Amino acid sequence: MTDQTNRVRDHYRATGLTERLKTALAVFGPEEHLLKPEQLATLDQFHTRGLAATAELADLAVITADMSVLDIGSGVGGPARFLEATYGCKVTGIDLSEPFVDASRYLTKRTGQDGRVSFEAGSALALPFEDGRFEAALLQHVAMNIADRPLLYREIRRVLKPGGKFATFDVVLSGGDPHYPVPWAKTPGESFLITAAETCEAIEAAGFSTLVRRDDTAAAKAWFAEFRASGPPPSLNLGVVMGQGFADLATNLGRNLMEGRLGILTAVFEAVPVS
Ligand SMILES: C[S@@+](CC[C@H](N)C(=O)[O-])C[C@H]1O[C@@H](n2cnc3c(N)ncnc32)[C@H](O)[C@@H]1O
Repeated sequence: MTDQTNRVRDHYRATGLTERLKTALAVFGPEEHLLKPEQLATLDQFHTRGLAATAELADLAVITADMSVLDIGSGVGGPARFLEATYGCKVTGIDLSEPFVDASRYLTKRTGQDGRVSFEAGSALALPFEDGRFEAALLQHVAMNIADRPLLYREIRRVLKPGGKFATFDVVLSGGDPHYPVPWAKTPGESFLITAAETCEAIEAAGFSTLVRRDDTAAAKAWFAEFRASGPPPSLNLGVVMGQGFADLATNLGRNLMEGRLGILTAVFEAVPVS
């Protein structure tokens, strides 16, 4: 593993996370009561615009029940659980952070989805899956932590079947240097941002053709403005996952968007057959 990847792993090293979640989820009653996936949405969708963004991306990718879907950089598993609950597809999540994978498995047992949704610890740059294993792959707010984009997108192409869908929702560089810390990086040392055009170019070069490409910066800015105006956050929020001080990181992301330094890209691609 490279130094860069180690630094990113340290950023998401959420020590004692599963125990913190057990305590936080006591508001829903005893452990043996099954939870609905949407009850976790304020803390398990680790990206701008939360559950609404996952729902839109899945819709654009036309996910169906017969698909086997890979969620790369699956966080604490919210998007994976949403996909299974909504479409009935089988979902595998992979994430660099072992505490996140442990927490994902715990939360997935709490929602009773552990037969259909599974998680593994591993790197997006060396996916532990055979070629052509999946019909669709999701990458939400992960690529900005990864310097070697050509390798990342080649790995995703490798594990997809020809014609498979790749849906990405990411923060991109826009008009200037971002203010740090941000939710994915305390310093520029863990952050590897490129522009929307560079992102799409790198993905196409890895063997994909573009189906959808959308600038979602305006929607993200509106969401941050509404969030700021809506008063204190719910008790179940991403601070439970990332620790106290997370709100300041999120505020900086909002500021970077408002000042035009960063943007939000939504895009869906199709894996072209390798000749
Ligand atoms: C901002 S969170 C997004 C989590 C999830 N995609 C979501 O939207 O809820 C970024 C995630 O990417 C993971 N990640 C970053 N670099 C990675 C890599 N090289 N391989 C696998 N996961 C990675 C982190 O551990 C973290 O869980």
